[in-house]
Amino acid sequence: MAQTASSKQVGTATLTLGDKTASLPVLGGTLGTDCVDVRKLQNELGVFTFDPSYGATASCESSITYIDGDEGVLLHRGYPIDQLAENSTFLEVAYLLLNGELPNKAELEKFNSGVMRHTMLHEQIRSFWSGFRRDAHPMAMLCSVVGAMSAFYPDSINVHDERQREISAFRMIAKIPTITAWAHKYNVGQPFVYPKNEYSYAENFLYMFHAVPAEDYKPNPILTAAMDRILILHADHEQNASTSTVRLAGSTGANPFACIAAGIASLWGPAHGGANEAVLKMLAEIGHKDNIPEFIKQVKDKNSGVKLMGFGHRVYKNFDPRAKIMQKTCHEVLGELGIKDEPMLDLAIELEKIALEDDYFVSRKLYPNVDFYSGIILKAMGFPTQMFTPIFALARTVGWISQWKEMMEDPSNRISRPRQIYTGAPTRDYVPLEKRG
Ligand code: ACO
Repeated sequence: MAQTASSKQVGTATLTLGDKTASLPVLGGTLGTDCVDVRKLQNELGVFTFDPSYGATASCESSITYIDGDEGVLLHRGYPIDQLAENSTFLEVAYLLLNGELPNKAELEKFNSGVMRHTMLHEQIRSFWSGFRRDAHPMAMLCSVVGAMSAFYPDSINVHDERQREISAFRMIAKIPTITAWAHKYNVGQPFVYPKNEYSYAENFLYMFHAVPAEDYKPNPILTAAMDRILILHADHEQNASTSTVRLAGSTGANPFACIAAGIASLWGPAHGGANEAVLKMLAEIGHKDNIPEFIKQVKDKNSGVKLMGFGHRVYKNFDPRAKIMQKTCHEVLGELGIKDEPMLDLAIELEKIALEDDYFVSRKLYPNVDFYSGIILKAMGFPTQMFTPIFALARTVGWISQWKEMMEDPSNRISRPRQIYTGAPTRDYVPLEKRG
């Protein structure tokens, strides 16, 4: 059973404004920074809080994922990410995120077969694809097809029915690899490959992505394990931009497919999930180690608009623990594929080394994030650059649906509705067109 999130009051903060004073509860969870509960502030002092981009705001209580950005710690339901990446499987992590506990053998078998029995898409979704241009970005296809799922599976969109919520979670997790693989097949003009449920989740995705009907497909166990690990590393990351988008959409009572489509749209940006694609483009543009100093100079120049993609994070002010595991996986994959010289990897290692010694990055606590190495692995595994962010979306679907489910089960959930500081024109009267200068 999912644990219910529940913070406790650990203190009181007092805020004085003019001659009024408000006593605000300070709430603490099991780990992490305490939060001042400002919900009564407007009533008591007649003001709102101002925190554009939410750098200092906790938007919900959650018992799914914990990040300590200073220490570089990432826990899912209390379990460190390195232990999960080393010992678990993606579907086991999915069960953990959704249900709060690791499954026993019988529970895992039931969950695996539940997911793997929903992998096919409604056959009419096939025809949906023919509306796209061949060169459509796969993220555009993911966004549209996932959004359209509410039209193909109207029997599981009642958000107030627990059973329907469960079915739609299964459907999302099971079908997103098929949608992702088919987006690629459509781009390259190859036939869609139907899922094979005897394969594991990662194996099935690699099969649908790489196989063609004209040849036998033999899954490579090392690459399958690497794929599974990449999926685990991207599975959830607490209240990041895309997850917050899913929660915001979900807070209105929108159906889960529409909410996940919103999350996919949010993930697409280069400041978020789109960074893995942007890292490879950046490395290609740098081209050679000799060009790194000039590139770093541009990054440090505020007017250039150039960023070191795959570096920096809103929460991590230390190594992103996922980046370390990614780098290790990168070496394993290149080793398995017999790639001795990968200029992109050499360039990335050199760039990382130089950046980590440079005062600009050191003073701002900018470290490699999960996207810095993931693109190099995915490229070596035969994925085109524009598929990197869709693969991130595939993995993150589990996190999004778990966070959405947690929110829907929270009795205190109500529509999310931030306020603003209005800086526009004060009240004025309408001027008829003929009287305007
Ligand atoms: N390259 C150069 N400078 C950077 C970078 C970077 N990658 N990241 C941050 N900075 C600088 C900022 O310019 C700012 O400098 P200043 O204090 O002199 O103005 C300082 O570091 C603080 O950065 P902010 O932009 O305030 O940090 P924020 O938390 O808003 O942004 C973000 C975080 C978006 C991840 C940012 O670091 C970035 O754009 N990184 C590159 C894109 C990327 O890799 N995104 C993936 C993030 S992980 C994920 O979503 C999976």
